[in-house]
Amino acid sequence: MNVDRRSVLKLAGAGTVAAGVSTVASATGAAAAARGGVAAGAVRTVPTAWPGTAAAATRAAQLVAKMTLDEKIALLHGEGWSTGTVGYAGRVPANTRLDIPALYLGDGPGGVGNGSTGVTQWPDSKTLAATWDPDAARAYGAAYGAEQAAKGHNIALAPCINILRVPYWGRSFETFTEDPYLNAELAARVVEGIQTNPVMATVKHFAANNQETLRGSIDVVVSQRALHEIYYPGFRAAVQRGGAAAVMTSYNKVNGAWSHENRTAVRDTLRDAWGFDGLVMSDWGGTHSTLLTARAGSDMEMPGSTYLGSKLKDAVTAGTVSAATVDTMAVHVLAAMYRTGLFDHRLPDPATVLSKVVSSDAHLQLARSIGVQGSVLLKNERVLPFARPASLAVIGGAADAGARTHGGGSGAVTANGTVVTPLAGITARAGDIPVTYTKGLAGAADAARAADVAVVVAADYTGEGADRTTLALPDGQDELIAAVVAANPRTVVVLNTSGSVLMPWLDGAGAVLANWYGGQEQGSALAAMLFGDAEPGGRLPETFPASEQQGPAKTTVQYPGDGVQVYYDEGLAVGYRWYRSSGEKPLFPFGHGLSYTTFRLSDLRLERYGDGYRASAAIRNTGHRTGSEVVQLYLTAPAAAGEPAGQLKAFEKVTLEPGESRTVRLGLPREAFAVWQTAGTGWTVVPGTYTVSVGRSSADLPLETTVRIG
Ligand code: BGC
Repeated sequence: MNVDRRSVLKLAGAGTVAAGVSTVASATGAAAAARGGVAAGAVRTVPTAWPGTAAAATRAAQLVAKMTLDEKIALLHGEGWSTGTVGYAGRVPANTRLDIPALYLGDGPGGVGNGSTGVTQWPDSKTLAATWDPDAARAYGAAYGAEQAAKGHNIALAPCINILRVPYWGRSFETFTEDPYLNAELAARVVEGIQTNPVMATVKHFAANNQETLRGSIDVVVSQRALHEIYYPGFRAAVQRGGAAAVMTSYNKVNGAWSHENRTAVRDTLRDAWGFDGLVMSDWGGTHSTLLTARAGSDMEMPGSTYLGSKLKDAVTAGTVSAATVDTMAVHVLAAMYRTGLFDHRLPDPATVLSKVVSSDAHLQLARSIGVQGSVLLKNERVLPFARPASLAVIGGAADAGARTHGGGSGAVTANGTVVTPLAGITARAGDIPVTYTKGLAGAADAARAADVAVVVAADYTGEGADRTTLALPDGQDELIAAVVAANPRTVVVLNTSGSVLMPWLDGAGAVLANWYGGQEQGSALAAMLFGDAEPGGRLPETFPASEQQGPAKTTVQYPGDGVQVYYDEGLAVGYRWYRSSGEKPLFPFGHGLSYTTFRLSDLRLERYGDGYRASAAIRNTGHRTGSEVVQLYLTAPAAAGEPAGQLKAFEKVTLEPGESRTVRLGLPREAFAVWQTAGTGWTVVPGTYTVSVGRSSADLPLETTVRIG
């Protein structure tokens, strides 16, 4: 789908819903702000709920009316993993009297987790984000959701969409990006895909869960503006556009309140402003109270029943929590179940499908395709694609036994069948081209020198529970790469890492490919790119710093905090926004990625369109092979808006044959110009001159025009 059609749909969608919600359509000023609408001038309404909401909520309310207090409370907490390897992370038992199905909650973002077998180990979320392709996100969601369903899990604990605030975050591989717009575009579509199955998507972790260090206690001190502009948009899109049925709150506190009892975030924002009436569960062990949790608008404690079991019943008896509040909580759970078809499409009991193989050739093919589309070619001195090399040296432990295809923690996935390592993939594709393999430093330079082309594979290991302490590659791999590139300039460095790493050897490398954690088809996807069967289609969803000293959040109180609080003092200057305002030159900028062909962009035009504008630009493939480019649009607001310059507001991925030209249209609805100022004014368009820049990364924007907004 091109941006043109997408923006038409978006605008049409907003209009349709607004028509049915007159209070929103007529709201102005503070009321519009609270709703998430755009103040000043024409008020742009936003959808406040999903299609089918009314029917599902009605059915849920009817069912709740038949339930005893104990039955309602039984819906508001669940069991954890205590029963051994069952393939899921939590369970809420069925209510047989009323025929309410059990809920089975299964991790995670990169595939069915919790020790499940027979499933696909997909490329990680970072790879998916690097595709810059919302359609790929939807396709992934649908296929992954089908595996959850086939394993009997009607709640997927995915996607994870927390902003990558610092590159050290241990769960970097589980999340998408440092940019709220890219995040929102992908989050909505993954959710939509998952919920094409009778499976709830759970967007997590709401909110401002951006580090592992002290994640279970840290208090994030962050402005409402940064929350609304940077940390919330993905959640809002997942809920309003994607129709997410469930939200998981985060472990941390935000501005003094635990996320699960954070009234400002859950009740005022998620529920009242965004119209979310689905299930809000805690992260595992992230419930800390009875009264505050119930009053904040949250519904479910996971796992266990310390606070939302007998204590909740006692609170109702004592009158400190009203019976109506418990009804509302139960309605949220059941409405989410009705809406996602959980009553109408019963899934198998997970115990009966424990050993069932739910992966398929089609899923492996999709995994390969996402692997290719999400790999980012960072540098290429005419080394790639290979032109039938005489011989190949594959080097590095990470190419073989030490291959890193997924991360650790609840995001870990056990692959069904073979994990194709880089060495296995390259060897299979090389055919009769001789391939040697050298694991470590000893002999690496000699092997590289003796070969026509060398491929050195490096990896890091990251996982939930711990942040990286350095951006340097671990285990002497920098030394290994330096030795290999010194011995053979025709060396391709393949990085199987969770995110950015430092590259002290960069100058000597012939090519560098960010291949992330590529899942079980990693080696096949890699070989296809090296040999030119396909080109790497990815663009960076995060900035790669040139040194540990670069980037925002450089003081201890900003990261990892003072032991109690962490101050998000950089405000809106997260990721590339920081680099542009500070003037620091990163190693590779956000949005960067090379193709095997070349492109030329020209003819930027802007026209009025709907309630906003539409940019168009011509793009031509000036090279000799078919390739894809991501045309990116960045907006700079007038100084009075107080915004970082150059923020991503639209993009479109196009594939062109040699010599082919296309006009790309990039929608800029009025909300693209809005900034979130204060709780009173909310989303506002500040009058003035806006600069629209179009190009191929946040730091390569050859086309520019301006528009005055009154
Ligand atoms: C993680 C969640 C996960 C849950 C269940 C928690 O530790 O933060 O992302 O879904 O465990 O495994």
